[in-house]
Amino acid sequence: MRRLEGRVVLISGTARGQGRAAALRFAAEGALVVGGDLLHEEAMETQRLIAREGGTALTPGPLDVTDEDSVRTWVGEAADAFGGIDIVYADVGAVRFGGIDRQPYEDFAFTMRAGLDSVRLTAHLAWPHLVSSRGCVLTVGSTAGLTGSLTNRRSAHSASEGAVIALTRQLAAEGAPHGIRANCISPGVIDTNGSRDNLLAEEHPMPGIAEHIPLGRVGTPDDVVDAALFLASDEASYITGTNLVVDGGWSTVLPGAIADKEFRT
Ligand SMILES: NC(=O)c1ccc[n+]([C@@H]2O[C@H](COP(=O)([O-])OP(=O)(O)OC[C@H]3O[C@@H](n4cnc5c(N)ncnc54)[C@H](O)[C@@H]3O)[C@@H](O)[C@H]2O)c1
Repeated sequence: MRRLEGRVVLISGTARGQGRAAALRFAAEGALVVGGDLLHEEAMETQRLIAREGGTALTPGPLDVTDEDSVRTWVGEAADAFGGIDIVYADVGAVRFGGIDRQPYEDFAFTMRAGLDSVRLTAHLAWPHLVSSRGCVLTVGSTAGLTGSLTNRRSAHSASEGAVIALTRQLAAEGAPHGIRANCISPGVIDTNGSRDNLLAEEHPMPGIAEHIPLGRVGTPDDVVDAALFLASDEASYITGTNLVVDGGWSTVLPGAIADKEFRT
C-alpha cells in the first residue's frame, strides 16, 4: 500500500525545484496532486510527467500564491475536482536580498509577501477543507529562519522564514482540536534554480559551500521531499508543530576541522 493513496494534496511551486520534486514523489505515493505556479507551462510539464508515470495530477491554471483570488480559485478547483483537500504543502518562496542599510522596503515587502503571507493565505483558504478531512499542513521554512548569515544580506528572507516556523506552530495549536497536524520543513542549501541564482552561483563569495556542510554535500530536492513525505504520512500521526531541519548539519555544527590531537580548552 502506497503511503498517500487517494489523498488530495495541494502543492504550490510545482514548476521547478522542490515543488516539482514534491509533486512527482507525492503522486508516486498515490496522492492526487493539485499543483500550481506562476510558471504555468512548466507546472503543466510536471503534470505531464506525473501522468506518464500513471499518477493523477491537476494544474487548474496559473497560480500566484500572493494573490487572494488566485489562491481561492486554486483551492476551490481542487476541492471541486477531488471532493476535498487532505494535505496542503505550501512550498513557494521568493527572495530579494539586500543589507538592512540599503534594502528598499519594497524588496523587504516582496519577500515577506511571497515567503510568509502566501503560506498564511493558503492555510487560511484551505482551512475549512482541512477541518473536514482532519488533514495536514506542510510549510517550508529555512535555516535562514534559525541563524544569521555573514555571507548573505538577507534580513527579509530570515524574517519571513523565521515567521513561517512560528506560524506553523500556531497552525499546530489551532489545528489540534480539529485533528489537523501542521509541520515545517527547513532546508539548508539545496540545489535548485532558486539557489543557483545566489548561494550556489559561481561568483558567490562562499565558493565550495559543500566543504562547510558537515555531511559534505549540498542537498537535493528529494532530500527535502523525503522529510515532507514522512511528515504527511500516517507514520507522523503523532507529530505536529515541529520544524524538521534538512541541512546536512549546516545550522547545528560549528565550522572547523577535526584536530589530529586533543587540545585542552
Ligand atoms: N533552494 C534552497 O537552497 C532553499 C533553502 C531553504 C529554503 N528554501 C525554500 O524552499 C522553497 C522552494 O525553493 P526552491 O529552491 O525549490 O525554489 P525555486 O526558485 O527553484 O522554485 C520556486 C518555484 O516557486 C514559483 N513561484 C515563485 N513565486 C511564486 C508565486 N508568487 N506564486 C506561485 N508560484 C511562485 C517559481 O516560479 C518556482 O517554480 C522556498 O520556500 C524556499 O524559500 C530553499
